[in-house]
Amino acid sequence: MKSVEIREAFLRFFEEQGHTRVASSSLIPNNDPTLLFTNAGMNQFKDCFLGNEKRAYTCATSSQKCVRAGGKNSDLENVGYTAHHHTFFEMLGNFSFGDYFKKDAITFVWYFLVSVLKLSKEKLWVTIYATDYETYNIWTKDIGMPVERIIRIGDNKGAPYASDNFWTMGDTGPCGPCTEIFYDHGAEIWGGLPGSPEENGNRYIEIWNSVFIQFNRTADGVLHRLLAPSIDTGMGLERISAVMQQVHSNYEIDLFVNLLSASAEAIGCANDNQCSLKVVSDHIRSCSFLIADGVLPSNEDRGYVLRRIIRRACRHGYKLGATGSFFYKIVAQLVTEMGCAFPELKQQQTNIEHVLKTEEEQFTQTLEHGLKILERDLTELKGTVIPGNIAFKLYDTYGFPVDLTVDIARERELTVDTAGFMREMDAQRMRARSASSFSRDHNTLFKVDAPTKFTGYMATSGLAKIISIYKDGTSVDVLRAGEKAVVVLDQTPFYAESGGQVGDCGFLSSNSSRFEVCNTTKTSSTFLHHGVLVLGNLPVGASVNAHVDADVRHAIAVNHSATHLLHAALRQVLGKHVQQKGSLVDNQHLRFDFSHLEALKLDQIQALENIINAKIRKNTPVKTEETDIETAKKKGAITLFDEQFGDKVRVLSIGDGFSVELCCGLHAKFTGDIGLLKIISEGGVACGVRRIEAITGAAALAHLDAAAEQLNKVTSLVKSSRNHLINKLSAMLERNRALEKQLDYLQAKVASAASNDLLAQALDVKGVKVLAVRLDGQDRKVLLALVNQLKYKLSRAVIMLGGVHENKVSLVSGVTKDLAGQLKANELMKQVATLVGGRGGGRSDIARGSGLDASRLDAALNLTIPFVEAGI
Ligand code: SER
Repeated sequence: MKSVEIREAFLRFFEEQGHTRVASSSLIPNNDPTLLFTNAGMNQFKDCFLGNEKRAYTCATSSQKCVRAGGKNSDLENVGYTAHHHTFFEMLGNFSFGDYFKKDAITFVWYFLVSVLKLSKEKLWVTIYATDYETYNIWTKDIGMPVERIIRIGDNKGAPYASDNFWTMGDTGPCGPCTEIFYDHGAEIWGGLPGSPEENGNRYIEIWNSVFIQFNRTADGVLHRLLAPSIDTGMGLERISAVMQQVHSNYEIDLFVNLLSASAEAIGCANDNQCSLKVVSDHIRSCSFLIADGVLPSNEDRGYVLRRIIRRACRHGYKLGATGSFFYKIVAQLVTEMGCAFPELKQQQTNIEHVLKTEEEQFTQTLEHGLKILERDLTELKGTVIPGNIAFKLYDTYGFPVDLTVDIARERELTVDTAGFMREMDAQRMRARSASSFSRDHNTLFKVDAPTKFTGYMATSGLAKIISIYKDGTSVDVLRAGEKAVVVLDQTPFYAESGGQVGDCGFLSSNSSRFEVCNTTKTSSTFLHHGVLVLGNLPVGASVNAHVDADVRHAIAVNHSATHLLHAALRQVLGKHVQQKGSLVDNQHLRFDFSHLEALKLDQIQALENIINAKIRKNTPVKTEETDIETAKKKGAITLFDEQFGDKVRVLSIGDGFSVELCCGLHAKFTGDIGLLKIISEGGVACGVRRIEAITGAAALAHLDAAAEQLNKVTSLVKSSRNHLINKLSAMLERNRALEKQLDYLQAKVASAASNDLLAQALDVKGVKVLAVRLDGQDRKVLLALVNQLKYKLSRAVIMLGGVHENKVSLVSGVTKDLAGQLKANELMKQVATLVGGRGGGRSDIARGSGLDASRLDAALNLTIPFVEAGI
């Protein structure tokens, strides 16, 4: 069976058992800061397991793209050296959210493996969590598994619940005991049963894991029992394909065969089962999928892991003899293999290739740079061992892999203190862990409140009841005038900050009280009105009128619609690789961050404005529709990686389908409401991420008015008219250039004459002519011309000229060529400039300086004679 057929057979089987087929989510976990990358099929259902989210279905099945590199469950170091580890793989899974539990889960697994895929029962072994007797009984009594084929695994990793048979998603989150099924690849393959010393061999391979989700682990390490026990299963598509295709390594399955030969071709080596070739073919998958999902190489977080994977791939390619960039050339084959199942690869092929090529080129330079640093360090090396901190500095600062340092050391009969290197690595890991943003627990105080009903799509005011009040983070029964607080209502027209749109402001009022709302935020479903009570008392339970500031709201809404138009226009002008990386929409302006590698050109910015303003002028209605995610995707709706979706999503369509996005924000009614859009800035915010800021409506008009006003001023300053302004300014600049030339010529003439006068002031110091003279009122250009003249006319001379010009001290020093090597103009300059509180530098024959302390200029010039005496 081909991999694609196995994937389909799995999903269809579980659909037939009443599961809903759900698409793979992005590799960037949905709104989950506790996770680096999506590492299991269950990630996208985390909140369903925890009971925080309800969907239309209670059982689901999916084929999920996963990356296990960096963070928890990382397999990076194993990849290439085992037959079944990958940085990227697909996980087939079936899930129950409080629906069926252990018995059904195990029955489904068994039926699928034995009756659908027709695997021989004799080849299958089972592990269970040591104390899970219920699962033991299901396997032995209901399934009829011989007891000698069931292996109990306890807490074999040195801490409670640290076990191969207790699965945790990360440091926090849903978890529970699990039962795993292993496939025996045959006695000819080395390896032992799980729990034996040879378990890491390739004979017995785990093909399926059923996790009995029963707990939520919080950051303090405590396991909280969940109300509804659930099921999370996972089967690696690559591993089951190896079984079905009767090969003993994942690298021999259909998904990898062509990828390996494409890798060999790109590198220019034989396709000979080398570990390095497997590394390259594995890594091209994770790197391409990560880039397609919006990750770019960088020095932090996800981007840093991507960078490490790319560099690991490059180094293995170089080991096989690659020269120059090769990695990006394999993308085309990957698109051929997987582009149908994952259209994002096809759509973004050019972008993925571009990012990889740029990173490879940068790494080549890094390697060269690192080599130079290493050479320098080696010349100063005492003994034959390169210290760990040097190897670490090369690795950490220059991205120079330690094994390369070891190779080079070996060529020179040196060794590297790898233990010292590891100590530095560990210390850095500790630092990174404590600073990591991936370990935050987002449980907040406000989570206890009931969900707030949002009424603000249709209205900007309405009646509401006060559910709770928090003062300084503590729940209170009543609020008094002057007190700041957070108020929770049963329903509200106030939009809470999310999706880049700022929260609404306004006020809550009753007959005798008024609470000014300055911002609105929300926890997962509770809206929080932040503000201050300016009048009366406000008790919990009171009824209030909630009023959103409608003018501010309107300005925010039109900017939000303009942001969608900008997003769509960017994809039209720059390409489909453009992905939203962040946004901020308020009543003053809009800011949009997006993935793109180069600065935008002026004509591209102009094109964006033209497209958007044409859509605005068409004045078409902004349409919203509630539908399910699959229908929305079919309509081409753009989704954001960090957005959370339930069963129903809100699709925003602007400009007759020009922009279709999933969005919960507030928008204009017609595009014409935006009035006009003007881009006011474009720049880079991080590697591969650009930012555009724009304004709309009255603000855009005011911006244009101000520009016109400035133009008027310039026109009147140069006494011209708008029509003739450019010609007039060009003529003025031309004349200015001519005058400057003339001035230079005259200054040189004056300097020549003046230098003759100065010659007489030269003193003789130990056979050197010393000329240290103060000339106020001359700019540095004149001093420089004079020093050059004097150097020309004198031999064995040191010249130091200084003067005050426009309240600043200017200095120029010179030394004639025949004193080269004995006295240096830049060293003299350093001493003199320092004394006048300034700085200076230059070459050994001519140097310049400046300073602010004119009162010390004479004393500073007097340093020249002692300088010459000391140096001759
Ligand atoms: N989440 C479990 C795993 O990744 C089962 O899918 O192994």
